Amino acid sequence: MTTSPAVSAAAAPAAAVTDATAYAEAVQTAAQAAAAYYATGESTLDDDTYDRLVRGIAAYEQAHPDEISADSPTGKVAGGAAVGDVPHTIPMLSLDNVFSAEQLAAWAASVERRIGRPVEVWSVEPKLDGLAIAARYEKGRLTRLVTRGDGSAGEDVSHAIGTVVGLPDELTEPVTLEVRGEVLMTNEQFEAANTVRTGHGGAPFANPRNGAAGTLRAKDRAYTVQMTFFGYGALALPDSEADLAQRLGEWPHSQVMRYVADLGVHTADSTAVAPRTLTTVDEIQARIDEIGAARPELPFGIDGIVVKADAAADQAAAGSGSRAPRWAIAYKLPAVEKVTTLLDVEWNVGRTGIIAPRAVLEPVEIDGSTVTYATLHNPSDITRRDLRLGDRVMVYKAGDIIPRIEAPVAHLRTGDEKPIAFPDACPQCGSDIDTSEQRWRCVRGRNCHLVASVSYAAGRDQLDIEGLGATRVVQLVDAGLVGDIADLFTLTREQLLELDRMGATSTDNLLAAIETARTRPLSRVFCALGVRGTGRSMSRRIARHFATMEHVRAADVEALQQVDGIGAEKARTVVAELAELAPLIDRLTAAGVNMSEPGATPPVAGPAADGEDGKEGTGQGVEQSRTTGPLDGMTVVVTGAMTGALEKLSRNQMNELIERAGGKSSSSVSKRTSLLVAGEGAGSKRAKADELGTRIAAPDEFAAMVADFLDTQA
Ligand code: IVH
Repeated sequence: MTTSPAVSAAAAPAAAVTDATAYAEAVQTAAQAAAAYYATGESTLDDDTYDRLVRGIAAYEQAHPDEISADSPTGKVAGGAAVGDVPHTIPMLSLDNVFSAEQLAAWAASVERRIGRPVEVWSVEPKLDGLAIAARYEKGRLTRLVTRGDGSAGEDVSHAIGTVVGLPDELTEPVTLEVRGEVLMTNEQFEAANTVRTGHGGAPFANPRNGAAGTLRAKDRAYTVQMTFFGYGALALPDSEADLAQRLGEWPHSQVMRYVADLGVHTADSTAVAPRTLTTVDEIQARIDEIGAARPELPFGIDGIVVKADAAADQAAAGSGSRAPRWAIAYKLPAVEKVTTLLDVEWNVGRTGIIAPRAVLEPVEIDGSTVTYATLHNPSDITRRDLRLGDRVMVYKAGDIIPRIEAPVAHLRTGDEKPIAFPDACPQCGSDIDTSEQRWRCVRGRNCHLVASVSYAAGRDQLDIEGLGATRVVQLVDAGLVGDIADLFTLTREQLLELDRMGATSTDNLLAAIETARTRPLSRVFCALGVRGTGRSMSRRIARHFATMEHVRAADVEALQQVDGIGAEKARTVVAELAELAPLIDRLTAAGVNMSEPGATPPVAGPAADGEDGKEGTGQGVEQSRTTGPLDGMTVVVTGAMTGALEKLSRNQMNELIERAGGKSSSSVSKRTSLLVAGEGAGSKRAKADELGTRIAAPDEFAAMVADFLDTQA
């Protein structure tokens, strides 16, 4: 949680605090969140929300300076000091923030103006995302740990000595000084802490920072969890050796930090985002960009970059305000975690049969992108984190990394959360699941994917091979008779007869169904391939556009984009997938499987091919073949039960029919709909069409319109 008051400009808009009531409510919400955070380390708001709230409060206060509440988070370090706290010898200050290169440059210029000379050296270091702590060493021994508290006095948390990696009990020299720095949990320590906690029946920490805050304060726990210290400053104590006190007062910050590291204290120096001393604002900005880019891969959290005037004389000349020094600034990085709701868990089967859960989230905007899914590594990950459906969860996403759920925010539970159901059969092929390892796996391993892809290819809307259901496919795969869909077309009567529960009749029926499948239109053969990013309707569009598989395969990314609904990204995917599927397509062709689309003509080479010929109803080339249908240029929606000549047609077949007759099929009624085919039981779509004045046809009427094309329907 950020405890700093709002600064002039912000990364995200401030919350709207429009009147005195809204102000009072906002102050109360922020104060409660801050109090909860400082008391238990558990915040009720995520960083970004808290920051916006505080900025809204600050904006209101600026306009109404006489109404500032004593509880306002802008006026003091939130949380306050508790009775019995340990006074700090020198206040533990906070930092002001900047959010852009311009603000940084303006700040650096303001420091130089104030001190009346250029700052020769700046120190640029990561802003560790944990809690400030002062570690007092007397004659080299660690004697006391004190939190920041309200800045002038903090809580004694010396009981944590021994659990903080990076703060040795004994320094390499017997000196007396105070090291200040940040205590945090590395990602690894956080995972370990939550495993131990939930194992003891406790609620998990929502994120590493809350974990560090809660752990630091906890006394007499039945278990210990580790944290890590990163030093970022040091100062003399009243009992410090005089020469040391003098050196600490005179050395540049970077030299103090080298000395602290030499004493055996952990600093950010050993990390990928080590502090650097730099001389120009451009160099500082370049290092900020580097640290920002390294952030997603760091094993611990950072929430910004701290820039400090390095020389002691510069710091002294710039001085400090009551809340923050003027010689240092925090360049805030965008918030990369947000609280959202866990809506569902999907179980996906990978190519090797690994069954991996994936969290479906209430969409949430994090760092400029909308996050809808997050990884959950394995089922025990869910159990260990005690995740439940409906939980409010802390989600982390930075840069290109896959978003992850850090943990549920346990104290926001309402009691309505539901347990997450684990699958008891493979969600892809229905086989048993091997649960003996952490990562669950379909017992069919790689063959699981095969069973699923062959079953899909044989499905009603693809090759429509009757008698080839999932069970039969499993049999064929297990017997080693089918290694891909092309193998279906070389199956022999003898091979099939040897299978369990396969008599002469079933065998002959299956062989006949496979024979029919050989003659299916290209649209269905293409769909059967399961090309990523293409389903039934896209397969039909591709088949009608290119007319033959040869033309589809010859198409490059640009040519594919001529197909309605294919953008650059999908075109690239399809091209790459087709290259991968080339051997399979060759084998299907060799097996005599039809590779052309009845009634379609290939795009003509030359101007028409790179023009608008893919767009329905425009251009030339392949359009010439389409403009002959009775539904040319029409967008048709089908609803209700079909009757008469259309009775046996599935929705997919209806859509095929519409497209063959020159129309475009769609599933929802809009202003663009030209015709609604409304069968029995038509409901809301009919009402919508009525409302929009869309033309409505009964199934028979529609059948008459497309009579010439009905015969070609399977
Ligand atoms: S210097 C007088 N350096 O950020 C200077 N602070 O938002 C005060 N922090 O209270 C701190 N990394 O808890 C400094 N490299 C760093 C830091 C750092 C994290 C924390 C610190 C401070 C807070 C201000």
